[in-house]
Amino acid sequence: MKTGLKGSASNAAKAGRAASRALIFLVFLFPVLLFIIATDNLDSKTMARGNVQLANPEAELVRLPAPRHDSRFSLEKAIKMRRSVRQYKDSPLTLAEISQILWAAQGFTRERKEPPARWNPKYEWQGGLRTAPSAGALYPMEIYLLAGKVEGLPGGLYKYIPKNHALRKLAGADKRKALCQAALGQPQIEKAPAVILMAGVYERTSYKYGERAERYVHMEAGSVAENVYLQATALGIGTVLIGAFNDDEVKKAMSLPADESPLIIMPLGKIPGTPEEK
Ligand SMILES: Cc1cc2nc3c(=O)[nH]c(=O)nc-3n(C[C@H](O)[C@H](O)[C@H](O)COP(=O)(O)O)c2cc1C
Repeated sequence: MKTGLKGSASNAAKAGRAASRALIFLVFLFPVLLFIIATDNLDSKTMARGNVQLANPEAELVRLPAPRHDSRFSLEKAIKMRRSVRQYKDSPLTLAEISQILWAAQGFTRERKEPPARWNPKYEWQGGLRTAPSAGALYPMEIYLLAGKVEGLPGGLYKYIPKNHALRKLAGADKRKALCQAALGQPQIEKAPAVILMAGVYERTSYKYGERAERYVHMEAGSVAENVYLQATALGIGTVLIGAFNDDEVKKAMSLPADESPLIIMPLGKIPGTPEEK
């Protein structure tokens, strides 16, 4: 009889312990589990960062106004007037001006659905031929925009996405000062309302061209830069090709992916002495 009582008492104690474990699970562990599931789901919806491709890379794209494909400012005039300009008005640039210059740099001029032969499968084919020539149409150039004073565009670091004619925001912080320091303190970088940084992905071109890729990528950077110079000139915007900088410092300051090498910096700002458009 006594043992029977003892047995039922120990059974009751066991049941009590199980109940309190279940309670602990409900109160503490269940919310933790829910949190883990929720954040995991959130992660898969977050934007791509650098080379990490996540599920919804379109999420944070800033669509740019459509670029013009004609103007009354002749090409001859732009070639004649092009000059390296290192001082800019304090006034902001417009999103339409930024759109036009980025299109001139690397925008699409013709659709091409299939990638060219010998395309490095590590990279995404964006689907078009572009404003500047590229060896094998492999397009190794990546264009970044550091926005300081651009109407309608919050300050920060952006990457130009040619296939969407859009900007992908990478960071909200103003990195012009850090880029200026990485470029021997050239003050025009910090003072310009916006700055373009061109980076080359050698692997995209060396996959087909081997050792010649390095010179090809550099040739292409020059073509892109001239497009930027001429388009900026036609818009009354000054720029200068900056090649003097410390590669590692630029890479670090801009958090560039490991396969991208900084090649050219081009600050952008209205040319002093030109009338403001109304
Ligand atoms: C490869 C290269 C690198 C350059 N690097 C710099 C630079 O770091 N800083 C700068 O202020 N200008 C730089 N320039 C701009 C030249 O100083 C400029 O093109 C030259 O003085 C001729 O003037 P122009 O462009 O007005 O015709 C560079 C130009 C080239 C082509």
